Amino acid sequence: MEKRSINHSRIIQTRLVLPPDTNHLDTIFGGKVLAYIDEVAALSAMKHAGGVVVTASIDSVSFLSSAKVGDALTMEAFVTYTGRSSMEVYVKVTAHDIAKDEEMLTTESFVTMVAVDENGKPRPVSQVYPETEEERKLHESAPARKKHRESRSHI
Ligand SMILES: CC(C)(COP(=O)(O)OP(=O)(O)OC[C@H]1O[C@@H](n2cnc3c(N)ncnc32)[C@H](O)[C@@H]1OP(=O)(O)O)[C@@H](O)C(=O)NCCC(=O)NCCS
Repeated sequence: MEKRSINHSRIIQTRLVLPPDTNHLDTIFGGKVLAYIDEVAALSAMKHAGGVVVTASIDSVSFLSSAKVGDALTMEAFVTYTGRSSMEVYVKVTAHDIAKDEEMLTTESFVTMVAVDENGKPRPVSQVYPETEEERKLHESAPARKKHRESRSHI
């Protein structure tokens, strides 16, 4: 299978934070952000794999700052590493207060997606290669994260 660049899988998605997405402090629910992370990671992995994927795991997520009503919340995702059928996807979430032109990092996460066939069984994916310094760092550090993941799960 032909290798694909990390950049090929890049997805950037921006959403406006609206009142139904928020708690009584007018800041976004963590679960809402997790759902966005899962969706954008799936889109990125689907682009790389050229087909259906399922979420195998989401690494621990810490919320560093909150997004409030009226902020633009941007999710950026790309595949950093591939196994036989699994893909590690890096997701970065930032909140932008457009009126003040202030941008804050909300969270970062790594999601493992697995490409599956029509029977839901894992199927092979192309390998991925980095081009930029940021991509190279994430690509090279991925095997250690995979090992850590395997050590804390039953896989
Ligand atoms: C993910 C899933 C397809 C793995 O199927 P499986 O029969 O266990 O297949 P394997 O053991 O061969 O694993 C396939 C790949 O997934 C990876 N994997 C499996 N479970 C994993 C986990 N919890 N975290 C990270 N990677 C995982 C394996 O390391 C393997 O990677 P590789 O092919 O790159 O070497 C299967 O467990 C599944 O369908 N889970 C439900 C997914 C789902 O419905 N998600 C939505 C939320 S409920």
